[in-house]
Amino acid sequence: MSTAEFEIIPIDPFDKDLVDSLIDAKRAVQAHDFPDFALPSPVVERLRLLLVADSIKVERWLAVADGQVLGYAQLDMPAKDNLHMVDLSLEVRPEHRRRGIGTRLLEHVERRAAELGRDTVITYATESLQDVVRLDESGRHFAAARGYPVVESEILRRNVLADVDEDELDRLYAEAWKKAEGYELIEWVGEAPDEVAEGLAHLNARMWTDPPTGDMDIRPAVYDVARLRDEERALLGRGVLRLGAVVRDPESGEVAGFTVIVVDPGGEAEAVQGDTIVDPKHRGKRLGTILKIANQRQLRRYRPMLRYVITWNSEANDHMIGINEAVGYRRYLRELIVQKKLA
Ligand SMILES: CC(C)(COP(=O)(O)OP(=O)(O)OC[C@H]1O[C@@H](n2cnc3c(N)ncnc32)[C@H](O)[C@@H]1OP(=O)(O)O)[C@@H](O)C(=O)NCCC(=O)NCCS
Repeated sequence: MSTAEFEIIPIDPFDKDLVDSLIDAKRAVQAHDFPDFALPSPVVERLRLLLVADSIKVERWLAVADGQVLGYAQLDMPAKDNLHMVDLSLEVRPEHRRRGIGTRLLEHVERRAAELGRDTVITYATESLQDVVRLDESGRHFAAARGYPVVESEILRRNVLADVDEDELDRLYAEAWKKAEGYELIEWVGEAPDEVAEGLAHLNARMWTDPPTGDMDIRPAVYDVARLRDEERALLGRGVLRLGAVVRDPESGEVAGFTVIVVDPGGEAEAVQGDTIVDPKHRGKRLGTILKIANQRQLRRYRPMLRYVITWNSEANDHMIGINEAVGYRRYLRELIVQKKLA
């Protein structure tokens, strides 16, 4: 098929054929760009089109020819804070690359961003770690060609659960509790208990600006219990399994840190390690290690056959990386974060 003639249209989530073609495109991209990872599930992709938290506005644009989706752009736009930015995913089917589709989609995204009053576009590109695996690096070349400098660099790590040395984790866990005596561990599945919601909201806000962010233009978040509950509900509505843990200082009742792992509905291979943070007042007491090990074990109880967990860390985040390596995560690829300030 010729790609000379294609149009850019918004997605209609109820257009079955178009959504099928989008899912097919996403699966083709994943199989080509990340061959060792689970393919996007049709169920999950459909639910994502329908259920989004209030804290984010989403626009999706498709490059379509003869009813087939050749490429797509998703603009995630924070709605409560960071009103200046667009968090972009942009992908073109492997067999249709280098024909200008990415460029046309990106021009469209930048036009939409400007119309919506947003002046910063942030997106992501893969760089292979030469000693691990060679992956397609088109995104990195494309970003450079389109005026998107690298502003931060993260490593994606993967923890293959069958390879974890559980005896070593037992040892680490026991050691860690010696330094964390008095703290209380609270775990949950789904919605966090009311007693920790306030503290969780506070730490969720910090998560935006506490970890290293390089030269990314990220600004403080506005986060309260209502937002926390709404974001939880959006995930639960999509059938996501959400496993969380906090450590709490029982004296003050303060939530000192939290971590969360999510698994998509029907996902039999992959879990994603989401945010983890320990409040600066409580650092240096191995709370991060406790949270990570406890929640990883909670995941193993709920999904014993699951194969691996993935997570991303800034290359500058030595403490988090140290904990992740200790609990079994290993480097897999480098993700470059690229950013353009629109004139
Ligand atoms: C990045 C991506 C969207 C580009 O889509 P595309 O339709 O192939 O892009 P274009 O044809 O418009 O490419 C524009 C320019 O980018 C550069 N470029 C794109 N891919 C490249 C590659 N593999 N190697 C070198 N330069 C490349 C070139 O300068 C190209 O112009 P040219 O073909 O005239 O030399 C596509 O490769 C993709 O889906 N990659 C995986 C997802 C991804 O990395 N997205 C993040 C983008 S920051």
